[in-house]
Formats: sequence, C-alpha cells, structure tokens
Amino acid sequence: DQADARYLVSLIRSIPDFPKPGILFRDFMPVLADPRGLRIMINGLEAALPVPVDSFDLVAGLEARGFLFGPALASRLGKGFIAVRKAGKLPPETVGEEYSLEYGTQRIEIERSAIRPGQRVLVVDDLIATGGTAKAAADLIVACGGKVSGFSFVMELNGLNGVAALGDHPTSSLLTMPA
Ligand code: PRP
Ligand code: MG
Repeated sequence: DQADARYLVSLIRSIPDFPKPGILFRDFMPVLADPRGLRIMINGLEAALPVPVDSFDLVAGLEARGFLFGPALASRLGKGFIAVRKAGKLPPETVGEEYSLEYGTQRIEIERSAIRPGQRVLVVDDLIATGGTAKAAADLIVACGGKVSGFSFVMELNGLNGVAALGDHPTSSLLTMPA
C-alpha cells in the first residue's frame, strides 16, 4: 500500500556524483538491512509480478544486486534461481553477450546448462536505468534456448527509456525514481 511504498522510498539512499560525476546513485542496500523494508520489498515484488506465477520456470538474477534478493524471491515463488554473471567468473561452457555502458562495454555470461530448451525465465534486478544490462541478459537467455517471460525491478529510473529498450516484454517496477 501507500505507506509501504513511502517506507521503501525512505530507505533508498541517493548519492550524487557516484560512481562518476552527474550520476545520482540509488542505493537499495538499506532496504535489505531493514527487516520491515526487506519484507515489504519481497512481498511487493511478488504482488507486482509482471506475469502470472505459472508462466515462468526460473528466476534469473543479474550480478551483483540481482543476486541479493533473486533467490529469496524465487524460493517464495517456488522457482529455481540462475545467475547472470559478469565475464570470467563462470566455468565453461558459458554463453556471453556484450553491451554498452555510458563509456566502454561490459560483458555478461551465463552457464549454457543453466537453462533447458524452452524454459521460461523471469529476469530480476535492483534497478533499470538505460536497460542495457537487462536487455543483454534477455538476449543471453534466448541464446541459451530459453524464453524471457518478463522483468521485475525494484527501481526504475525515469526518463532513460529503459523499459522501452526491453521491447514488449511485460515489466514491473516497485518504485519509479528520477534519474
Ligand atoms: C547497476 C544496476 C543494474 C544496472 C542498470 O549495476 O544494479 O544492474 O546498473 O543499468 P542499465 O539499465 O543502464 O544497464 P552495475 O553495473 O552498477 O553493477 P552491480 O549490480 O554489480 O553493482
Ligand atoms: Mg547491477
């Protein structure tokens, strides 16, 4: 409800000019540290699922902050959890995808065996900004033979067209914040 949403927002820490000048960093770590905040967040993600719970098989969390609540949410929903990692961390055989950041590129990987052909995957992360990370994760899931059911985020930054970058997949965000 409204009080819960206000409470969650009150726990998000905003840090100007981190990790570089001009970026207003939105830190959800205080939500995790707070028992009521953590409960509201997990309950909220479950209540705001972008697709019915029986329309996906796995929850995929994006390194690093998607790892901090993805398994808890997956367990709550009766699903397994898989990890989308930054390059070089996973043993072979992996499938990788490069994506652009504001400067340079990043590479993420997934274990090829993590997804069986046709499995349907809900992608979760703490935040969507430009959508580059989430889009790359979705492309990886497809490259492994999976299907993307939708995306769940704790926070969505306004004005960066991140959700539009994800195509027409159903998407939900608990909180919308100025970029
Ligand atoms: C942040 C955030 C998202 C991503 C969103 O992760 O946790 O994963 O950026 O940005 P985008 O929508 O423009 O792609 P970051 O790469 O800072 O790494 P971390 O989660 O490992 O800290
Ligand atoms: Mg991240």
